[in-house]
Amino acid sequence: MSKKSQAASKAWGGVFEEAADPRMEKFTESISFDSRLYLQDIRGSQAHAAMLEKVGILTAEEKKAICEGLESILKDIEAGNFEYSIKLEDIHMHVEKALIDRIGDTGRKLHTGRSRNDQVSTDFRLWVRDAIDILDGLLRNLQKAFIDRCDADFDCIMPAFTHTQRAQPVLAPHYWLCYVEKYARDRERLADCRKRVNTLSLGAAALAGTSIPIDRFETARLLDFERVAANSLDVSSDRDFALEFTFCLALIAEHLSTWAEEWILWSTCEFNFIKLPQKFCTGSSIMPQKVNPDLLELIRGKTARVIGDLQALMVLVKGLILAYNRDLQEDKEPVFDAFDTVSASLDLAADMVRDAQLNRYAINERLEKGYLDATTFMEFLIKRGIPQRTAHGMVGRLVRSAMNRGIALAELPLSEFQAECADLDDSVYEILGTRKAIEAFQSYGSTAAVQVRAQIDSWKKRMEESR
Ligand code: ARG
Repeated sequence: MSKKSQAASKAWGGVFEEAADPRMEKFTESISFDSRLYLQDIRGSQAHAAMLEKVGILTAEEKKAICEGLESILKDIEAGNFEYSIKLEDIHMHVEKALIDRIGDTGRKLHTGRSRNDQVSTDFRLWVRDAIDILDGLLRNLQKAFIDRCDADFDCIMPAFTHTQRAQPVLAPHYWLCYVEKYARDRERLADCRKRVNTLSLGAAALAGTSIPIDRFETARLLDFERVAANSLDVSSDRDFALEFTFCLALIAEHLSTWAEEWILWSTCEFNFIKLPQKFCTGSSIMPQKVNPDLLELIRGKTARVIGDLQALMVLVKGLILAYNRDLQEDKEPVFDAFDTVSASLDLAADMVRDAQLNRYAINERLEKGYLDATTFMEFLIKRGIPQRTAHGMVGRLVRSAMNRGIALAELPLSEFQAECADLDDSVYEILGTRKAIEAFQSYGSTAAVQVRAQIDSWKKRMEESR
């Protein structure tokens, strides 16, 4: 083949007199990753063809041939009977070329009134929309894993920390529902992001729209898009939806990493709060005694790459002139990577949450250590009319005195309490101790048993309703 006829073999070959450099083809291809968009590409093209028929650009037979041809391509791709080549650059060219090979000249009409710029955006939006729906299910499953533990763990009191120092006691389900809340916000964020993802790009064509009398609202209806992008110039440069989606993923990854870190710490010999399922741990090649929390460490570690994916996208679009630039082909891999990483993490996390066991004995044994009752004791004094700052000082001195002797507040003699506050009597011992501290909580959203019970019930109900 002459260079000129090699050049002409490209979809855009007419104007070219020189064939592409094979190194350039290798460097610029996207089929190695955007083949993942095959389903969205085919569904998008079928809707486009149906719209073209409706407005009279395609005959009913042409539309039928195109749609059936596309369906047969879909079958072959899914059966693994489809050949990819970097010569055809991307999934859009592969599908179109295969269509033309199969149905002849009619296939050459499919690209009427559209460009790859709006096509790639449409395919990507369809993909992200599906990905959001998958993530919502995975997040719900993880929430449910936490909620399902709440009843069994209800009476387990645990220390909660600030600065990784023992701070106040909470019920174990208070911990579990804390994560349920975070993942609820993640689901809301994704649902909100989905609204903007769910906008039809197709029909913006290269950047200015088209002189072909297409009906974009019909295409939107066929593809279940809620709205039609209103500025053709905006469409081909807009990757906000991909960035926003990846931000949602990065925040989910952050939430997972906090939980992973917490449970890694809890599973240490020093904490000994939790026993992780062995199927999610590995051993050491040299230290025979080791059972390492590798899964949690990698969930924590992979957060870095998801944040990196977001960073890559942010930098990618920075300062890009309107409208489409080939740079934008680099948008897919970070999104795919972030999605793959986070969805796998969520899936595994749910099983980890279901199967891990609290070491109640070890938790309980040290519950009176760390003065977890100091704050509610201070509040007890406040309720008796002592100003907060004064009460804080009194309790601080009592804690210091107990600390110096290595005992709990409840083990101090009454005379010491009376030295701080003369009108204290024996009733002081009724509010000291971790269990009593828990009983003292009252405020909405606190770790008081009634509050936690109400939250568990409300979450169970919400899970039922959102089935
Ligand atoms: N492979 C390209 C991408 O993924 C398709 C869009 C090409 N458009 C263009 N004007 N060259 O972004």
